[in-house]
Amino acid sequence: MPEKILILDFGSQYTQLIARRVRELNVYCEIFPYNNIPELTDEVKGVILSGSPCSVRDEEHPTIALDQLLGKLPVLGVCYGAQLIAFEHGSEVTPSTIREYGRARLSELHTQDRLLKEITLGSVVWMSHGDTIKETPDNFEVIASTESVRVAAYKLKGQETYGIQFHPEVTHSDEGKILLRNFVVHICGCQQDWTSEQFVEATVADLQEQLGNDKVVLGLSGGVDSSVAAMLIHHAIGKNLYCIFVDNGLLRHNEFETVLDSYKHMGLNVKGVNAKDKFYTALEGLTDPEQKRKAIGRVFIEVFDEEAHKIEDVKWLAQGTIYPDVIESMSVKGPSATIKSHHNVGGLPEFMKLKVVEPLKTLFKDEVRLVGRTLKIDDTILGRHPFPGPGLAIRILSDITPQKVQILQQVDLIFISNLKKSGLYDEVWQAGAILTPVQSVGVMGDERTYENVVALRAVTSVDGMTADWSRLPYDFLADVSNEIINKVKGVNRVVYDISSKPPATIEWE
Ligand code: XMP
Repeated sequence: MPEKILILDFGSQYTQLIARRVRELNVYCEIFPYNNIPELTDEVKGVILSGSPCSVRDEEHPTIALDQLLGKLPVLGVCYGAQLIAFEHGSEVTPSTIREYGRARLSELHTQDRLLKEITLGSVVWMSHGDTIKETPDNFEVIASTESVRVAAYKLKGQETYGIQFHPEVTHSDEGKILLRNFVVHICGCQQDWTSEQFVEATVADLQEQLGNDKVVLGLSGGVDSSVAAMLIHHAIGKNLYCIFVDNGLLRHNEFETVLDSYKHMGLNVKGVNAKDKFYTALEGLTDPEQKRKAIGRVFIEVFDEEAHKIEDVKWLAQGTIYPDVIESMSVKGPSATIKSHHNVGGLPEFMKLKVVEPLKTLFKDEVRLVGRTLKIDDTILGRHPFPGPGLAIRILSDITPQKVQILQQVDLIFISNLKKSGLYDEVWQAGAILTPVQSVGVMGDERTYENVVALRAVTSVDGMTADWSRLPYDFLADVSNEIINKVKGVNRVVYDISSKPPATIEWE
């Protein structure tokens, strides 16, 4: 097991960011809710206490047994974490009287302190707190202030316990990463040897031990996560991994053929299953998005299960679950309402009664890509935009017919291939086209037409939780629109979606 930092989550919106920053330092870390702390084994080199929307002044504020941590391991309290340590030591914590939200500059810096090594006087930090630490007991040394906050950072004398009132994990804190490095490397003594190469080597060895000679089945989707999961397991057990790639008839133009081909080039033992008609039949006449998703999920399970049963003696189901899904499912607040029920075909493991193996479940999305690169997976797979499981079905508003799918595939192909041609594809996080059920009037030659409106959607985002519409150049949009209207029969109008998420979502259904 690699050495690690524990991050105890008190419900802050920034907790995952702390973890990402620590991992960017090549130090492994894990997030646990404050009320479900694991055993502190030798691998744990230090603990970070996150922020929280709560206040230590609330009667029922979240807390932990600090005496079991402080003085035993290095501890860094961030915002609420810092207030909690101070409060439990008898500090006065009061509501902030002035606005302490946004940028501030550090002053009164004790740069000889290891936490603040190489931090510059006047360094910009990001504040976001409603409470302030006022008086501190004698064993607290204040090691940084700002213009309006005296206790911006403190250290407990004689032990490696620190508190900071600002957020080093957000990019607005200019030298936040240096501070986190100081904590995890100089104070906790982590080696910074957690790399994707090391992850691949250790995971392949673990998988070999866990799976032995057992057979494993995995559903490939063409996406990054399932592809990387497959390659990791393939490295561990070779032909005992059986991959299934289902054509649900809702993929992009020629997607099934090209992706299947690249999987075969990668040496994967993969079977392509054409189940288009089953999906179209199940979707016939359905207009409600949730019903469409359920129908697709149900047919997928049927098809996948039938195929899996053809593999004699299969024991395991592999899934490309990644860390944000895991954090979400055990979060302080419980599974978030923002995750759609239909994501990741949740019913599969229970239905199939197989043991589940999830080799990516400790990784963030960008780390999955790095691991993919280490495994030499082709950039055409690693650089792909995310694509929803129900595919074009949730981009065809109203009911699905094979004809509508064909129209949308042509529109989508023109949009995406132009993005690639003009070098814009990688600047966009996700792009696609939507076939609306709206018909609008147009003229073609001397005739009036009455045909469909399609919408183009392209967004920038980090993780899909929030997104903004991409500012694609007008000339680019003009060319794409012309090409669509000229080439795709049944479409006479193109619009561009300029909504951000929230309040809109990325998909239209
Ligand atoms: P929304 O529309 O919720 O989408 O802003 C966020 C991300 O999730 C994808 N998405 C789905 N993925 N099954 C999936 O596997 C679904 O039903 C589904 N709905 C949305 C969406 O494409 C975007 O990347």
